[in-house]
Amino acid sequence: MIKNDLFLRALKGETVERPPVWMMRQAGRYLPEFMEIKEKYDFFTRCQTPELASEITVQPIQRFGMDAAILFSDILVIPQAMNIEVQMKPNFGPYLPNPIRSQKDVNNVIVPDVEETLDYVMQAITATKEKLNDEVPLIGFAGSPWTILCYCVQGQGSKTFDKAKEFCFTQPVAAHELLQKITDTTIAYLKAKVKAGVNAVQVFDSWGGMLSPTDYQEFSWKYIQQIVDALKEETPVIVFGKGCWFALKEMSQSGASALGVDWTCSAQNARYLTGGKITLQGNFDPARLLSPPSEIKKMVTQMINEFGKDRYVVNLGHGILPNVPVENAKAFIDAVKEYKLAH
Ligand code: CP3
Repeated sequence: MIKNDLFLRALKGETVERPPVWMMRQAGRYLPEFMEIKEKYDFFTRCQTPELASEITVQPIQRFGMDAAILFSDILVIPQAMNIEVQMKPNFGPYLPNPIRSQKDVNNVIVPDVEETLDYVMQAITATKEKLNDEVPLIGFAGSPWTILCYCVQGQGSKTFDKAKEFCFTQPVAAHELLQKITDTTIAYLKAKVKAGVNAVQVFDSWGGMLSPTDYQEFSWKYIQQIVDALKEETPVIVFGKGCWFALKEMSQSGASALGVDWTCSAQNARYLTGGKITLQGNFDPARLLSPPSEIKKMVTQMINEFGKDRYVVNLGHGILPNVPVENAKAFIDAVKEYKLAH
């Protein structure tokens, strides 16, 4: 049904001619056509208008021909739907004016009917599927409950998320209640996305690596496992835990179809920790896209050789940076498509 199904085949662990490629945050500020839309509409207008969200989603596909599209949206639409105000401040990032700091705050958080509150996301999926015309699969996503809690409690981005950790360590009962509410909302949300037409989902645990391995189990992994359990029969699930190499072994036994790795974990170590059984995704250092294109191409070929062409999805180890030249992003994608020739 989908013409280019390399990505879905790699998620199933099938033998492929070459690995598929996409880039985290591929619809973003390094693209001039994205900046044109960004100048005219604020962030949440772009997310909430299906015509804009779908147009932004297909921009990188049209320019570079990646093997998968990822819906333009944000992980923070979930707290918004749960009755927590979220603003996106220009040159600052996410800002939540009323952060959660007590059991009372948690009591005011709702588990919404996502099909109603987040109907605009489902409409954006429908519009995107039309534009993609079954050329490549569409990825839906959500933040992990821990990563969402980080923003809800801290109120903004942080290098340490100290207030989020303090909340978990001093008010664990309230923290777990919040994590469970986020988990229940996320499961319903991802199921609705699958119903609306996404072909796979990715859970972003961007701040999982802030936790010790023991705290990771208690405050993050437990909840991601619930999401995987609830979704795995319906769609392939990718779990990306930034800085979470220490949890790869357990993740590989979770029922997820693929695991994301960042650039601090070598391909060899990631394969060793996961027993060579599961599809891995990653792990090019996003800052390495600032190297000259010829060097990028060599490094990509080497990365594929290290991971192996099967059970592998080429990606960055985190989101693309806004200052990456377009031709460097192109070199990254082209190197994967030329992989066979390079051999
Ligand atoms: O990957 C894609 O192309 C799809 C779009 C996407 C966005 N956010 C659009 C966006 C995805 C998958 C996300 C996920 C997201 N959002 C994560 C997890 C992934 C990661 O990078 O760790 C996180 C932690 C967020 C929260 C968030 N949203 C932050 C921290 C910021 C500001 C940081 C920055 O880069 O300025 C955003 C805003 C945001 N979300 C932008 C985009 C393209 C940039 C701002 C804008 O377009 O106005």
